[in-house]
Amino acid sequence: MKTMSCVADLAERARRRLPAFAFGFLDGGSGEEGGLRRNRERLEAVRLMPRFCRAVDPDSSAVLFGRTYAQPFGIAPVGMGNLLWPDADFALAAQARIRDLPMVVSTVASTTIEAIAEAAPGNVWFQLYYSRRPDINRDLLRRAWDSGIRVLAVTVDVPRAGDRRRDVRNRFVLPFRPGLRFLAGVAARPAWALATLRAGSPGFPNLAPYTGDITGQTLTEFVSSQIKGDLSWNDLRGLRQDWPGKLLVKGVLAVDDAAAALDIGADGVWVSNHGGRQLDSAPAAIESLAAIRAALGDAATVVMDGGIRSGEDIARARVMGADFVFAGRAFYYGAAAGGAAGAERAADLLAADFSRTLVQLGCPSWTELDRRWLWP
Ligand SMILES: Cc1cc2nc3c(=O)[nH]c(=O)nc-3n(C[C@H](O)[C@H](O)[C@H](O)COP(=O)(O)O)c2cc1C
Repeated sequence: MKTMSCVADLAERARRRLPAFAFGFLDGGSGEEGGLRRNRERLEAVRLMPRFCRAVDPDSSAVLFGRTYAQPFGIAPVGMGNLLWPDADFALAAQARIRDLPMVVSTVASTTIEAIAEAAPGNVWFQLYYSRRPDINRDLLRRAWDSGIRVLAVTVDVPRAGDRRRDVRNRFVLPFRPGLRFLAGVAARPAWALATLRAGSPGFPNLAPYTGDITGQTLTEFVSSQIKGDLSWNDLRGLRQDWPGKLLVKGVLAVDDAAAALDIGADGVWVSNHGGRQLDSAPAAIESLAAIRAALGDAATVVMDGGIRSGEDIARARVMGADFVFAGRAFYYGAAAGGAAGAERAADLLAADFSRTLVQLGCPSWTELDRRWLWP
C-alpha cells in the first residue's frame, strides 16, 4: 500500500479489484453525475493562502459535542460496505478505534450496529434512515443507545431513490441475480469473488429482524422502500423526543432547512448532497456549507461531507465553515483497494496530509484555522 500516493490511487486500485457493479455502486452518482463532479470542482476552487516563518507544531485535534477527537474528520455512513470488500466495515472500525475518529454506522450497513460499536467503543455514531414503521425506528434507537452510541444522524435527503444509472446499467439488483453479464464481471475479478464467496453475500443485518426477503430491487429501491418518503419536520420533532443523545440532521443543503433542523431541537446540521447520489442538480456541499455557516453564525454546529479526498480538502472545508468533516468514498476506496491495509492507508493519507497542510499554511491547529486563510 505504500505506493498508493493519494486517494485517487486507492480508487484506481479499487476499480481494478472490484467487479464493475460493485465499483459502480461506490464510485457512482445520480443522473448525469453533475452533483458528484461539482463537489470536487467547487472544493478545488477553494484557495488557501499560506503564511511562512511561523514554526508551526501542528495540532489536528478537534472538539465536537464536548468530546475531543484526534483528527477533525470521520467516516461517513456507507450502506453495504462489505460488498466492496469483505469486512470493510470492520477494517474501518479498527481505524476509528486506533486513530480516534468517529465512524457512523448506517441503517443499511452490512454489519450490525452492535458489532461495529463493540469494535470501536466510544467512536461509533448511528445513522438512521427514518422508517415508515415507528416500531422499527424505536427499536433501532434502542439498539444504538444500548450499544453505547450517543450521537445520531438522521438522513433526510432520500425522500425517494436517486437515479443511479450505473446500477441500472450494471444490473445491480438484490439479491444478486447471476445473469451472464454479472457472472462475467465477477469472473474477471477472482480475488474479490473468492473473498466474497468465503464471507457470504452481504445483506442488511440491521433491518433483517424487521423486513422480509428482498426481491429484484436495486439497493436504492430497497432502501427507498424502507424509508418514510413523506418524512416531516414534525416527525423529526418526535425523533428529538425519543433520542436522549446528540442529534444531527444529515443531507441539509438549504439555509431554511438548516434553520428548521435547529428549530426542531437538533444539535447540529450535517451539510451534504449525499455524495452526489440524490438530486443531480443540487449544489455542491462546500457551496451550501459556506451559505449555511454565514446564515447560522459561529455558534451553530455544522459538519459536512462531499468530495473530500485529501487533508487539504479537509482544510478547505474548515475555512468554509465546517466544525467537523466526513468522508465516505475515500475510506471505502481504501478498504476496497486493500482490505485492512487499504483502510489504514486511506486514514494515513488523510491524517498526514491534513497535518502537512497545517504546517504549510502556517496555522497551528484545526481550531485556529478559519477564513483568514481563505484567498482572495
Ligand atoms: C456507496 C455509498 C453508500 C452510502 N450509503 C449511505 C447510507 O447508508 N446512509 C447515508 O446517510 N449516506 C450514505 N451515503 C452517503 C455518505 O454518507 C456521504 O454523504 C457521501 O459519501 C459523502 O461524499 P464522498 O463519498 O464524496 O465523501 C453513501 C455513500 C456511498 C458512496
